[in-house]
Amino acid sequence: MYFLNRLQIGSLLNAARTSALSFQRAFESSRISRTKMSSTGLPHFSVGKIVKGFGRGSKELGIPTANFPTEVVQNLPPEIGTGIYYGWASVDRGDVHKMVMSIGWNPFFQNTQKSMETHIIHKYPGDLYGLELRVVILGFLRPEADFTSIEDLIAEIKGDIENAKKCLDEPEMAAYKTHTFFTDPASNTLG
Ligand SMILES: Cc1cc2nc3c(=O)[nH]c(=O)nc-3n(C[C@H](O)[C@H](O)[C@H](O)COP(=O)(O)O)c2cc1C
Repeated sequence: MYFLNRLQIGSLLNAARTSALSFQRAFESSRISRTKMSSTGLPHFSVGKIVKGFGRGSKELGIPTANFPTEVVQNLPPEIGTGIYYGWASVDRGDVHKMVMSIGWNPFFQNTQKSMETHIIHKYPGDLYGLELRVVILGFLRPEADFTSIEDLIAEIKGDIENAKKCLDEPEMAAYKTHTFFTDPASNTLG
């Protein structure tokens, strides 16, 4: 009788523990997704003239990037931390293309100035300096990282490009390709 009671109590305690754990997990995952949504400050719209970067993008990496001027970088809200992001971009009001963007100091190159470097997933015939770049930043891919070789950095960026392409095919993200920010000629800087 005594053992039966202990077993019963034990299984009751286990059941209670299991449901408390699953409640805690459900609570934590909803808290994480809420935090992600509210702390990233996304979507974020930026407009600016393309300036010269350090010129390593196309030469050393084979991955050209269009750089925003300092004022645009300084306009980023503090909730948008450094890291690698994806979104949509257009140059001089042309077609809207998928893009990946690096925000930060490029630990591999140890830059001293914070930059917003956009790699537009499209081949342009010439360089884009002085043209207007419009981007909407929609999602975070990963933090900036340091690498032991340039080949590893290139491989990581190629992975970012593939991940971004998939994320941007999601209907919620694809919808931004035709946002008035890109389509309305009267739309200027939204932030
Ligand atoms: C999608 C993407 C991811 C990047 N990830 C990193 C990174 O993790 N670490 C890093 O040091 N630089 C990273 N970079 C920055 C490149 O190193 C940078 O674009 C390159 O140095 C070219 O800069 P430049 O055109 O100003 O010379 C990334 C760039 C892009 C476009």
